[in-house]
Amino acid sequence: MATVNIAIIGAGVVGSEFIFQLANLKGYINYNVVVLAENKRVLRSEDYSPLKLSSWREDLAKSQKPGMTPKEIAEFLKGSKLPAILVDNTSNQAIANSYPLFIKAGISVATPNKKAFSSDIKLWNDIFDYAGKPGYGLCYHESSVGAGLPLISPLKEMIQTGDEVLKIEGIFSGTLSYIFNEFSAIKPSNVKFSDVVKVAKEKGYTEPDPRDDLNGLDVARKVTILARISGLPVESPAAFPVQSLIPKELESVSSGDEFLQRLPEFDDQMESLKAEAAKEGKVLRFIGSVDVPNKEASVKILKYDASHPFASLKGSDNVISIKTKRYTNPLIIQGAGAGAAVTAMGVLGDVIKIAQRVAH
Ligand SMILES: NC(=O)c1ccc[n+]([C@@H]2O[C@H](COP(=O)([O-])OP(=O)(O)OC[C@H]3O[C@@H](n4cnc5c(N)ncnc54)[C@H](OP(=O)(O)O)[C@@H]3O)[C@@H](O)[C@H]2O)c1
Repeated sequence: MATVNIAIIGAGVVGSEFIFQLANLKGYINYNVVVLAENKRVLRSEDYSPLKLSSWREDLAKSQKPGMTPKEIAEFLKGSKLPAILVDNTSNQAIANSYPLFIKAGISVATPNKKAFSSDIKLWNDIFDYAGKPGYGLCYHESSVGAGLPLISPLKEMIQTGDEVLKIEGIFSGTLSYIFNEFSAIKPSNVKFSDVVKVAKEKGYTEPDPRDDLNGLDVARKVTILARISGLPVESPAAFPVQSLIPKELESVSSGDEFLQRLPEFDDQMESLKAEAAKEGKVLRFIGSVDVPNKEASVKILKYDASHPFASLKGSDNVISIKTKRYTNPLIIQGAGAGAAVTAMGVLGDVIKIAQRVAH
């Protein structure tokens, strides 16, 4: 088994779990981690010998070396004869913008970072017009939608083998899954929307400012990725309708705390939607969807019968339904769509697949 060099950027929630899982990998691939970078510090092996993963945290904390630019990392990796993989565990746009640089230098990319795949379509094309072609690097991003759930790889396989996607619908945000599962449960309750958002924040499920979840943009980014894989060249997440759950009057309040304080003033709006659904025996869910034959994508609240798989979702799980020419009864994929362990698993799975393809 040949060896691959690995550069890891980002050692936060997902990055540190990724390093843990990689260090405990039993066989499958031979690898050397030769770069380990955070925003302002970097560990770099001068002669491409492997960095010690058992003490990476202390070693990185002690490192006096300033961070490296993507260009410097690419040049360093190119200096070795071995094939190389960049693992981007950040949510940084500038690093995402540099994937074409790596791929064109023959370096593969594995990442849970959505930014490269859901920004301007020019960047998507600049990656996938090259990735996987002879002499260029590969690009895998399983954890960019649904964390480690097996979604992107199977979807690409269906398409590569001649299936056609008709419709993808799903609950793609763990935070909004939790909020709607609690607010609009099959068993009716009087719980207020604003109270559920507050509890979600207290449990650490939301971003520091919950408006960053409630604006629907994170779901729109995931819908953009799935639409593009399915063959709809969506320009950007702003190119289709996205329903924001932020009341107009609270869009510009100065802080997340002020937003949470004033949210109860608008509970009636969500309450009447919930009551209307309940009258029909339905629940509300926040859904991203891609309709390929009609060339449409959207993000919005929809109503579902209590018997529908989206209605019985638990906790903060994601669920995705894929209808294709072959899967006329939709394929349903469900499970944890966030969290360090499953997200890092998806990234490590990508690294193993890449290493098995590029290291001979
Ligand atoms: N957490 C989840 O459940 C989950 C699920 C699915 C996908 N994801 C995706 O996984 C990625 C990582 O998420 P996370 O939760 O681990 O985030 P995080 O805890 O905020 O970690 C981000 C890491 O990236 C580093 N970083 C940021 N900009 C950098 C730069 N320019 N150069 C080098 N390092 C840089 C940060 O370093 P400093 O600390 O030095 O700034 C930090 O170590 C994101 O793209 C996220 O969307 C996460």
